[in-house]
Amino acid sequence: MFDSPAEVLPSDALILFGATGDLAHKKIYPALYAMSAKDPVGVPVIGVASSGWTTAQLHARITDSLKNAGAAVDPAALERLLARVVYVSGDYRDPATFATIGAALNGARRPAHYLAIPQTIFGTVIEQLGAAGLADGARVIVEKPFGRDLASARALNRLAQAVFPESAIFRIDHYLGKEAIMNILYFRFANTFLEPIWNRNYVASVQITLAESFGIGARGGFYETAGCLRDVIQNHLLEVLALLAMEPPARRGFAAARSAKANVFDAIRPLSPQDIVRGQYDGYRGERGVAADSDIETYCAVRLFIDSWRWAGVPWYLRSGKCLANTAAEVLVQLKPPAQHLFADSAPGTGRANHIRFRLSPTASIALAARVKRSGKDFVGDQRDLFLCEDRPGEPLPYERLLSDAMQGDQTLFIDQGALESSWSVLEPVLSNHPPALPYAVGSWGPAQADALIAADGGWHNPGGAAGCA
Ligand code: BG6
Repeated sequence: MFDSPAEVLPSDALILFGATGDLAHKKIYPALYAMSAKDPVGVPVIGVASSGWTTAQLHARITDSLKNAGAAVDPAALERLLARVVYVSGDYRDPATFATIGAALNGARRPAHYLAIPQTIFGTVIEQLGAAGLADGARVIVEKPFGRDLASARALNRLAQAVFPESAIFRIDHYLGKEAIMNILYFRFANTFLEPIWNRNYVASVQITLAESFGIGARGGFYETAGCLRDVIQNHLLEVLALLAMEPPARRGFAAARSAKANVFDAIRPLSPQDIVRGQYDGYRGERGVAADSDIETYCAVRLFIDSWRWAGVPWYLRSGKCLANTAAEVLVQLKPPAQHLFADSAPGTGRANHIRFRLSPTASIALAARVKRSGKDFVGDQRDLFLCEDRPGEPLPYERLLSDAMQGDQTLFIDQGALESSWSVLEPVLSNHPPALPYAVGSWGPAQADALIAADGGWHNPGGAAGCA
């Protein structure tokens, strides 16, 4: 699908802001280790945070992160990685911190600055980088959520572009680095059988679920500023929706794919408060860093319509939540029933029409549910899966893929300014004008009111746990 990017020089150092944070511990260190195991030379890594740690403490944190991730660790590869990692402690508002980073760069001229920090301080760090001369020849990798709404996303874009050219800004959404998600794009446009049915004539509805059985853990402070809508729906789920709904890109190259995706967001009908159900798991208000009267949603379900020729009238349902019954992400494309109901067991409303299911995590698979006759004299059948297992153990972690792409200057899997702003526009009407968060039991599938949202379309399909590749 994509061409290789033009020849560009790779970054020669990685500066990780937020080095002592949760994201670094959970995702970034395992990715850095995996990169380092494949490339023994690697580049210097400068971990920055305001925790007052020492380099030895940061090394211990990295080692712990790998243990937590359950990765098989080669001690020699870990040693090589740690030998390249130093820690810089300092306040992000203090120019002296950036002078220390400059010195720690030790002659590296094309650093990649990775901002794995709360978005409220992105602006400060970017300005300080510019003022300290650390933006010259550099790249900046910015974590999501990029902004809190359309206005703040625009303001951040302006600020970042005042210091870095757009070609040096990498807005990360790690979902785009997942094989199962890249495969949606490939599967749609590398095959011929899908396209004739991939529209309002055959598709009754689409649902996308990102369910997690765990809570917010130690991320209370972050979560209180974000909530489920900003944390995963504005980015991960809308990106998946765009890949499913986009028109075939007009030509090869990632710019065409990006613009096809942005067109999807532009065609989404403005949401209203009736299109959203918000929930909060029992006990959330007692979590560390959470306000006792918090109305932040830990669950969110949204119904939307794409007013395009292809999708007119087809409802799209997106939902995500913490402390749900399972950890799994899945897309279910519900097809319409056959035009003529020749068999009693395929009558409308029996919930037995075909569907296509993309399991995105924890395993990856694609299934086409089709009806097959049961043996016997009666014409009755069962819905059976034609099943395609896509699980390939050992494939790169999303952060490994994205970090190395960013350091090579390849923007293919990153979000551009236009699509980012369009995705915020989609949610803008319900970011603050929405119903209150309804309580739901830990281990459930969220508040019952979310079932009402999708009742007319056969209800939610709750993905099973690790089901996938047998
Ligand atoms: C992150 C969110 O972006 O994505 C988390 O901040 C969420 O709240 C996570 O748990 C889900 O992604 P993955 O890859 O861990 O399933």
